[in-house]
Amino acid sequence: MSSVDVSRSVTVPEFRAAKARGAKLAVVTAYDYTSAKLCDAAGVDAILVGDSLGMVVQGHPTSLPVTLDEMIYHTKCVVRGVKHAMVVADMPFLTYQVSPRQAVKNAGRLLKEAGAHAVKLEGGVRMRATVKACIDAGIPVMGHVGLTPQAVHQLGGFKVQRDGVALLADAIAVEEAGAFSVVVESVPAAIGAEITAAVKIPTIGIGAGVNCDGQVLVFHDMMGLFPDFKPKFAKRYVDLGTAVKQAVETYCKEVREGSFPAAEHSFR
Ligand code: KIV
Repeated sequence: MSSVDVSRSVTVPEFRAAKARGAKLAVVTAYDYTSAKLCDAAGVDAILVGDSLGMVVQGHPTSLPVTLDEMIYHTKCVVRGVKHAMVVADMPFLTYQVSPRQAVKNAGRLLKEAGAHAVKLEGGVRMRATVKACIDAGIPVMGHVGLTPQAVHQLGGFKVQRDGVALLADAIAVEEAGAFSVVVESVPAAIGAEITAAVKIPTIGIGAGVNCDGQVLVFHDMMGLFPDFKPKFAKRYVDLGTAVKQAVETYCKEVREGSFPAAEHSFR
């Protein structure tokens, strides 16, 4: 089991309390040791080991095929790279929807085996009992409402969610069940603001406007590393995709013309 030094980490109560202080929370996804270490050193409040890894790491069209064992593997890698940030691990599709009992057992593995501080699961009103069961077992839960990618087929695609009344009810249900924060994905900015005003737990927006209490971005989207698709809400902070391609092209050229390795890369 990985050991997380809780004394140096952003704790769940601290994360929750940030809202009362008016401090905005910066969250990114990461799936491996190196990127987690960089994000942690850059000062993020939390790292989400998202099941978006199904798309940006594994190359699937959705997150549905991701397994619990894969989430445990990636969470372990991330935990090893993190000294400060809180690590939240996503519960993949069908590891919590069957029953609250199933959810507790599987969420527990993410804390016990992988070393996560908390889990995230998708759904609002329908997941109330499941969130509560995890909390009762001592497992902190981050909720996820709005566009819930595991329900992509039910929703008819990765679409903006606009039913303000239902979205508000979902966020309130998650809060009442005991979640310490809630991701709000792909909703109009006005609905993001309304949910944020209505709940006491921090809202972490992704495509939910500037009034959320924090923001989360997928690592590959912000680094320009995912060429297949760029969501409107994702800001590309650097174009690493182009830089990596150019570096590999230069390497291929140097290998083929015999200019790499040079003397300084060789042993005498
Ligand atoms: O899986 C993920 O990365 C997520 C974020 C988009 C919030 O759920």
